[in-house]
Amino acid sequence: MRVCMIGTGYVGLVSGACFADFGHDVVCVDKDASKIERLNSGGIPIYEPGLDKLVADNVAAGRLSFTLDLAEAMKGADAVFIAVGTPSRRGDGHADLSYVYAASEEIAAYIDQYVVVVTKSTVPVGTGKEVLDIIAKARPDLKPGVDFSTASNPEFLREGAAISDFKRPDRVVVGAEEEAARDVMRELYRPLFINETPIVFTNRVTSELIKYAANAFLATKITFINEMADICEKTGANVQEVAKGIGLDGRIGSKFLHAGPGYGGSCFPKDTLALVQTAKDYGVPTKIVEAVVDINDTRKKAMADRVKEACGGSLKDKTVAVLGLTFKPNTDDMRDSPSLDVIPAMKADGATVRVHDPEGMEEAEKSFGETVTWCDGPYHAMEGADVVVLLTEWDAYRALDFKKMQSLLKAPIFVDLRNVYNPETMRDHGFSYVSIGRP
Ligand SMILES: NC(=O)c1ccc[n+]([C@@H]2O[C@H](COP(=O)([O-])OP(=O)(O)OC[C@H]3O[C@@H](n4cnc5c(N)ncnc54)[C@H](O)[C@@H]3O)[C@@H](O)[C@H]2O)c1
Repeated sequence: MRVCMIGTGYVGLVSGACFADFGHDVVCVDKDASKIERLNSGGIPIYEPGLDKLVADNVAAGRLSFTLDLAEAMKGADAVFIAVGTPSRRGDGHADLSYVYAASEEIAAYIDQYVVVVTKSTVPVGTGKEVLDIIAKARPDLKPGVDFSTASNPEFLREGAAISDFKRPDRVVVGAEEEAARDVMRELYRPLFINETPIVFTNRVTSELIKYAANAFLATKITFINEMADICEKTGANVQEVAKGIGLDGRIGSKFLHAGPGYGGSCFPKDTLALVQTAKDYGVPTKIVEAVVDINDTRKKAMADRVKEACGGSLKDKTVAVLGLTFKPNTDDMRDSPSLDVIPAMKADGATVRVHDPEGMEEAEKSFGETVTWCDGPYHAMEGADVVVLLTEWDAYRALDFKKMQSLLKAPIFVDLRNVYNPETMRDHGFSYVSIGRP
């Protein structure tokens, strides 16, 4: 099959490369000339483990290419995927669909045979119909559902494990109204039938809602365990054991029960907000998701207070070593990362901040600029610091040399917002240690 992928971001590039690896012919398009140039010269614009090799192999095999030219990319395409950003719209929290709509207009101009226009971007209920209407309006010569279809195929991959998530997903969700569209989608995902991946076929609106429901549920689970952690801190219980004790119940499941500084990233914050807005539009109360959004925002901001308390109530004239800036390990994605709340709050309290992140510093520099000191390793960040704050649980921070730390730090205070270390071990090594929800 021939696939045109619009957008070479975290989702478009991974999906395009994986479809090519399945054996399809994929052309990826982006408007960002620097990204296309980088890809065409063998570079990868994002950090995602394994992606460089997957892209290189499929380019070499002649199945994957990159262009700025949508007309060329759409020639003979059976499916064109829209994988552009849908960030929060400034002011109201609705999903900003301007990139999706612009892409739809552009697609309309180049439809020259039956094609399925698939929204892979996370889009609110009803967007597939909007895309259909935009194309129909731009091309009155085409009959919707006959000369082209629109379908919804939300993406569930996680950054940092994106390739295996795409190739071995728990399920694939496809929302389509026409059998011809379902046939194209079935053929595209045929390699996954071999692994017996469940493919959920449904209508467009249901598929669109499934994505938001999934993200809202996961965000709720994280927020729930974070609140349990707060109770643990007051009562002397241990949140990791609470998580284990409830997670072994098959009805609950053990995933997404890690207490921490609050969820961030390019999906949960904006998708929970957008779901709340959609529900408001339809006059439906979504008190649970509203509470989740609110609790998480407050939590991220409150994390700086823990550092403050650990340092005796003030960060004035204190130097803080921050380990990890990205919203999670194995990505360079900084969108809505807790570090964006925690670091400014610590600085506002008078702290000097030294930072390190294994892969995210280039991205993070766009947010923090000269306001922090950039360090070339965790120990460099600790030089002369009064406190260490572990913000992202990169592997590189999981086996720190305690002796070396003691020799570099002004004071042995360690605030572990990811519960990476064992409290007793830390105390045995002479640290004043603060973590989340553990005695
Ligand atoms: N990042 C994730 O982990 C993830 C996971 C699941 C779903 N999603 C959803 O997938 C969508 C894309 O997310 P992302 O993180 O890949 O975004 P991104 O910002 O990394 O990439 C979007 C790309 O689209 C390009 N683009 C925008 N308009 C274009 C146009 N008209 N023509 C060509 N290119 C265009 C941009 O230049 C950019 O390179 C979002 O809706 C997001 O919610 C993301």
